[in-house]
Amino acid sequence: MTQPSVTTDRATAPVRAEVARRRTFAVISHPDAGKSTLTEALALHARVINEAGAIHGKAGRKSTVSDWMEMEKARGISVSSTALQFAYHSGASVDGRPGIDAVVNLVDTPGHSDFSEDTYRVLTAVDAAVMLIDAAKGLEPQTLKLFQVCRHRGIPVITVVNKWDRPGQAPLELMDEISTRIGLEPTPVYWPVGIAGDFRGLLDRRTGDYVRFTRTAGGSTIAPQEHLSAARAAEREGDAWTTAVEESELLSATGADHDEELFLAGQTSPVLFGSAVLNFGVSQLLDLLIDLAPPPRARLDVDEQPREVTDPFSAVVFKVQAGLDSAHRDRLAYMRVVSGVFERGMVVTNAATGKPFTTKYAQSVFGRDRSTVDTAYPGDVVGLVNALSLTVGDTLYSDKPVQFPPIPQFAPEHFRVLRGSVGGKAKQFRRAVEQMDSEGVVQVLRNEVRGESAPVLAAVGPMQFEVVAARMKSEFDVDAQMEPLPYALARRTDAESAAELDRQRGIEVFTRGDGVLLALVSDRWRLQYIQKELPRLTLEPLVAAA
Ligand code: G4P
Repeated sequence: MTQPSVTTDRATAPVRAEVARRRTFAVISHPDAGKSTLTEALALHARVINEAGAIHGKAGRKSTVSDWMEMEKARGISVSSTALQFAYHSGASVDGRPGIDAVVNLVDTPGHSDFSEDTYRVLTAVDAAVMLIDAAKGLEPQTLKLFQVCRHRGIPVITVVNKWDRPGQAPLELMDEISTRIGLEPTPVYWPVGIAGDFRGLLDRRTGDYVRFTRTAGGSTIAPQEHLSAARAAEREGDAWTTAVEESELLSATGADHDEELFLAGQTSPVLFGSAVLNFGVSQLLDLLIDLAPPPRARLDVDEQPREVTDPFSAVVFKVQAGLDSAHRDRLAYMRVVSGVFERGMVVTNAATGKPFTTKYAQSVFGRDRSTVDTAYPGDVVGLVNALSLTVGDTLYSDKPVQFPPIPQFAPEHFRVLRGSVGGKAKQFRRAVEQMDSEGVVQVLRNEVRGESAPVLAAVGPMQFEVVAARMKSEFDVDAQMEPLPYALARRTDAESAAELDRQRGIEVFTRGDGVLLALVSDRWRLQYIQKELPRLTLEPLVAAA
């Protein structure tokens, strides 16, 4: 009886070893907090293995601007999600575990303030998040929204207070803000020595030792660091050290020490202070991620059965992108591997259609350069080229069938009616709309009154409409005209309620691409009125965009 399990153990050992050294995370932040700078700093500290998509930086930086769309260039923003894979040898953990050769996957979130569903989808592909805060500005609106998504999904969060080299708030005040505004208990691991604007180094609260940094010109190389004992630190830094130690003791007195269980449950957040531009605290962040963040774990399928990481290959498509390379019109689907080993060339099954998909063109993409991915493990992100049949939320598997729950569609708040250009382009128009719908760029709604030629587009953030217009023009040569609709809310309804709702003023019922009936409502007051007057009608909230 023991024989089969020994064999299985042996067969899955390589997968378990690969999973144990992987960490897959995203950075959540408000624009300008320093996410691009931090991404570059992380790449500087690690050996970049693969880049699916591109690191996007701003003009003048060494990084490659993801330029698959003119609009992106013009605005200096990224509308696409990307994934970057690093190898990093972590230092030994404080409790004596040796350092490991880790593989880190950084899945990027779109970096502009207008909010889109892409960001949420990216967060379905990660196991942890780094919440990056500007030391002077504290918690900002987009950070708050993204944090709510992490909380909703139970994603553990590590907090980085960035820009400590510049004047900012007092560190204890920042901790207070996190705790009182979002109910996340900060448990600082690295506490700053020197006030904001006079950043000297970090007190490692777990060991009581001091990490002292030295600036390099322009922060373009890894900042040298010295590890000093508390006694040496006191001699060297005087009052700045004493203040840091006193503040750390205050934190301990209030119980603000790291607790693994509470962190993994999303109740506490280890905190680190740093300066991305000076490369201060970046290796500490990598060490914390490897030491504290969870490796890929089993994922529940639609029947709530766990798909273990050692099960045969399975993955979820969380992002589909077209037009990356204008020379080769193609469509790239990003999948996150959930279980087993992915090998290029594998024929996998799409659970939604039961159809096979050959993964001959599995690649990682860096700007215009692409490199081929041959093998991937749970936690890794792979771009599948020519993925014409794949849609966001699709489950792919090899031997053992599985279906993961759909990626939630968030409640749209902006609606536009779309009209194509007149003059013989009806076919391109239809194809373009289909494409935007299947990629999930926007939700496409239809009803009989408006007909096929005037579908309604629904989005979480209004910028998605510009993305649609730009792509319809560049990829399908269709001039899209859009007019706003006087609706502000969407509610799920059913066939029994639809006709009566349609007769109400300020309400219109549509069918979404996935068959769900949506009632668009002009405003909150109208909704409350209908709910009061006609309580038997179904009007259920959708998953809120936080
Ligand atoms: P984002 O991706 O989150 O939008 O932010 P990004 O990295 O582009 O950083 C926004 C600005 O903040 C940049 O300045 C960047 O140099 C600066 N910055 C990032 N991290 C730090 C830090 O740790 N300390 C300080 N002092 N500044 C930081 P910029 O003037 O907009 O651009 P640049 O000309 O400096 O590149």
